[in-house]
Amino acid sequence: MIGSTLTSVCCVMVAVLAAAACLDVPKVRLSSGGDIPIVGLGTRQANYEGELETALDAALQSGYRHIDTATIHKNEHTIGKVLNKWFKEGKIKREDLFVTTKLPVYGMRPADVPVFLNQSLTKLQLDYVDLYLIHMPFAVKREAHDNGIITEDSIDKTTDHLAIWKAMEAEHYAGRAKALGVSNFNETQIERLLKHGAIPPANLQIELHLYHQQRPVVDFCKKNGVSVTAYAPLGSPSYRWLSPISGKELPDLLELTEVNKIATKHNKTSAQILLRHTVQRGIIVIPKSFKPDRIRQNIDILDFTLDDSEMAELDALDKGLDGKRFVMKHIEGLWKHPEYPWTALLNSTEERPKSSN
Ligand SMILES: NC(=O)c1ccc[n+]([C@@H]2O[C@H](COP(=O)([O-])OP(=O)(O)OC[C@H]3O[C@@H](n4cnc5c(N)ncnc54)[C@H](OP(=O)(O)O)[C@@H]3O)[C@@H](O)[C@H]2O)c1
Ligand SMILES: *[C@@H]1O[C@H](CO)[C@@H](O)[C@H](O)[C@H]1NC(C)=O
Ligand SMILES: *[C@@H]1O[C@H](CO)[C@@H](O)[C@H](O)[C@H]1NC(C)=O
Ligand SMILES: *[C@@H]1O[C@H](CO)[C@@H](O)[C@H](O)[C@H]1NC(C)=O
Ligand SMILES: *[C@@H]1O[C@H](CO)[C@@H](O)[C@H](O)[C@H]1NC(C)=O
Repeated sequence: MIGSTLTSVCCVMVAVLAAAACLDVPKVRLSSGGDIPIVGLGTRQANYEGELETALDAALQSGYRHIDTATIHKNEHTIGKVLNKWFKEGKIKREDLFVTTKLPVYGMRPADVPVFLNQSLTKLQLDYVDLYLIHMPFAVKREAHDNGIITEDSIDKTTDHLAIWKAMEAEHYAGRAKALGVSNFNETQIERLLKHGAIPPANLQIELHLYHQQRPVVDFCKKNGVSVTAYAPLGSPSYRWLSPISGKELPDLLELTEVNKIATKHNKTSAQILLRHTVQRGIIVIPKSFKPDRIRQNIDILDFTLDDSEMAELDALDKGLDGKRFVMKHIEGLWKHPEYPWTALLNSTEERPKSSN
């Protein structure tokens, strides 16, 4: 029902581990051969290290086997520490786990790829990652990051996606990255890799939620065998935001009447309806929460189905480009980078995006 690309694999439960739920989490088959669990834990923005440790323990106990991180999150060492503890206690095996990390925006040169992946692997205490993504299509200079000052001068316009991809492929051949993919790339940029790369990208991670359903890109990816992961799948809730495209104020998706109504009907929360809607389209979700009850809630979306009319009602709430919130304008002048992916969305390249985070 979720899609023919899904294989349902029951998580292997070690007998001593009464605490770990044996959840039947569906997986999406990757073109590279592996399987990615359709629900993963987003790990952005821990306030303190212990908060993330508690969250990871709760997630693993709740049946999560997919962890999403990135070099820029600066939390890989904590993830490594917790995973290592679970391995040592024999509660989980490496092959049952799916770990994604990302090449940072300040590591966008071919020679940087092995350096940053090695650093990530050391921190994660792993020999390989299941998925290595290029985090952003654009780039800043390495020094800019090292000295902590990122201005318009920091932008590195020399970015060569194909050369970087070749270095990514070398990591795959060396066994350090099982699958390769990209994040925040637009169709033109993905097409270039599909056409000229030796290994096609296995995954695209993009902003995707009820108000920004990304239908054209998802269709494009489906056609080309690229799996899609939704970041900000709850729309990064709890504050209203201005659409950077239309300038209009958008609501908290968790409070929408239509979503609440469907939630009540299924005895689920709004968050669960939002996630279920996306998962039922065959799209992987990585909701971020550090609260154990929400972490459990966000994976407890596999025991019910939205019917066709509910799906249609939710589909109709798509605001298209107006529902987009991430245009990464926090780096001054970034939109002038030749690989800035959303130029066509902004009506003038002379004008900076209006609002985002
Ligand atoms: N590739 C990229 O460029 C990129 C960009 C942005 C994000 N991401 C990834 O995507 C992940 C998720 O994105 P995101 O954090 O921006 O947005 P999100 O997952 O849509 O929303 C996270 C927010 O929702 C709250 N929340 C989580 N579950 C909830 C529930 N069941 N009920 C009510 N509130 C809930 C969380 O608060 P609590 O923690 O307090 O529960 C947090 O404030 C990130 O962790 C990151 O790994 C990737
Ligand atoms: C990365 O690690 C591998 C394996 O340990 C090593 O062979 C390689 O030289 C390292 N590369 C860099 C650039 O550090
Ligand atoms: C509704 O869901 C809650 C939380 O999962 C559960 O405790 C309760 O028994 C459910 N109620 C019904 C009527 O199914
Ligand atoms: C995609 O990104 C390229 C930069 O590589 C840009 O020229 C193009 O306009 C973008 N396409 C869209 C649809 O925004
Ligand atoms: C785009 O064009 C509209 C109409 O001309 C204008 O009001 C607006 O300021 C421009 N910028 C954006 C980002 O919409």
